[in-house]
Amino acid sequence: MKVLEVKDYHEMSSIASRIIIEKVKSKPDCKLGLATGGTPIGLYKELIQDYRKNGTSYDHVCTYNLDEYVGMDPEDPNSYRYFMEKNLFAHINVPESHIHIPDGTAEFLEAECERYDVELNRGEGVDIQILGIGSNGHIGFNEPGTSFSSHTHIVKLAETTRKANARFFQRLEEVPTHAITMGIASILKAKQILLLVSGIKKAEVMKRLLTTNEIDEQLPASALKKHQNVTILADENALSLVKKAHLKYK
Ligand code: PGA
Repeated sequence: MKVLEVKDYHEMSSIASRIIIEKVKSKPDCKLGLATGGTPIGLYKELIQDYRKNGTSYDHVCTYNLDEYVGMDPEDPNSYRYFMEKNLFAHINVPESHIHIPDGTAEFLEAECERYDVELNRGEGVDIQILGIGSNGHIGFNEPGTSFSSHTHIVKLAETTRKANARFFQRLEEVPTHAITMGIASILKAKQILLLVSGIKKAEVMKRLLTTNEIDEQLPASALKKHQNVTILADENALSLVKKAHLKYK
């Protein structure tokens, strides 16, 4: 894993956007793995700005999102489908038919997971996968304890995750209890992974990830240590508990 320390959220978003834009320009039909949450919003803003200013085209790009809440209608403002539309898709020229997000309202959820894996595995793998990290170390919605060999599956959300995400809802009770998520093995199939981390709330988990040799299913993000091409873009606050000399992965 390569750790790149950046000053703040803005710099993290800006560098991430340059990496994505570079990929879209050099490979116009690339596959992008996308994430939701507070972390990638700045990156998406930068992509939109660049699209407006420079016309970088997403006409041939395919996108694959990590996860979706179970039972959440795509039109619901709290769905990840809606989040992506509002924060990115509505503002760039990616064709609707190129957008892939698990369907949390599918009648047969197991079949939906299988369908999503088939989509993901069609043709070449994802070129760049964007990830955030939960304060408990989750990636996607793969909570601690998830098997590293998991593919797309249904998860019961950890209470800490529901509480962290309650900020997007009116009340905690409204936060769904389950989600569909790409598994750890599905995520690791991406050719390149970009983990974005910002803020003091992520300092503890970054310390755990970067200053120990732990590769353990109790820390889902530690699976990234098995991948050949991972870049962590983390800001000063997120790395505030990691003394430079202790950075084990560079
Ligand atoms: P955040 O969530 O970007 O809202 O901090 C990250 C995550 O839970 O994966």
